[in-house]
Amino acid sequence: MNKIIVIGSMATDFVVTTKVKPNQGETVFGEKFDTNFGGKGANQAIAASRLGAEVAMLGHVGTDRFGNEIVENLNVNGVSTENVEPVTHSPSGAAHIILHENDNSIIVIPGANNALDLARFSEIKGNITEADLVILQNEIPQEANEAIIDWCWEAKIPVLYNPAPARKLNPRMLSKVGYLTPNEHEFKLLFPNQKLADVLAAYPNRLIVTLGAKGAIFHNGKSEVLVPAFPVAAVDTTGAGDTFNGALAVGILAGVPLENAIAFANLAAAISVKGYGAQGGMPTLKEMKESPLYEEAWGIK
Ligand code: RIB
Repeated sequence: MNKIIVIGSMATDFVVTTKVKPNQGETVFGEKFDTNFGGKGANQAIAASRLGAEVAMLGHVGTDRFGNEIVENLNVNGVSTENVEPVTHSPSGAAHIILHENDNSIIVIPGANNALDLARFSEIKGNITEADLVILQNEIPQEANEAIIDWCWEAKIPVLYNPAPARKLNPRMLSKVGYLTPNEHEFKLLFPNQKLADVLAAYPNRLIVTLGAKGAIFHNGKSEVLVPAFPVAAVDTTGAGDTFNGALAVGILAGVPLENAIAFANLAAAISVKGYGAQGGMPTLKEMKESPLYEEAWGIK
């Protein structure tokens, strides 16, 4: 079985659902409060694991009760946590999420996730050699991300880099990333003043820009391909991008054409938004195959 290693963040999501968003200095009543598992790294790891991949997580939690629960949740979802190390100097990662009109706004407090720095990466890099694909996001220090990309390039291990939340990247890194999956906002920060069509053509079969309800677009070397999203009534879009990335990794490692892998990822994301919480709606492979929208022709077993 192909092995995916996710190097990134784990968090507890503190979620407030509200009909009214407070203005500065104002207090309002919300509808409900939930505590869910999150963090883009953990979400992507669990999305891939539920879809049948062998997945290991690398990163840090705190020694608090949240850290223990995060590790247990990864294990329950079949993700190896041998390389998730608790640190004593920082609390576990947290995200404060406001759900309003079925969309979200998020404040991330990285906490222990920031312990995955250059020094730590040099200690653990030996554990990455067995990966068939490494997945990265932007919730660990950027210097670590860049060292990981460099190292994987040398080791010929492809990297799927989801540059979220948005932040700049040393342009030197772009040629070393196997798959880059920004949304439109992240795309603008990574490629300022450049036209989407030009950049897609410059990174054929590698740059996949997600377009929300429209789907995702890439260039196949001959022309642009828009892979449409599946229309669904969303109850919570938190983690939809993470589900997309985890599923895309599974599709890529299945060796199917990129267009099929993206269609598979679009369906996983569409199913995920029907459940509450970042991980609540993430489908298993069985649930995907039971969907009337699933296509055997995608070639994912
Ligand atoms: O992508 C959604 C995730 O972003 C949430 O689970 C939250 O933890 C933040 O990291």
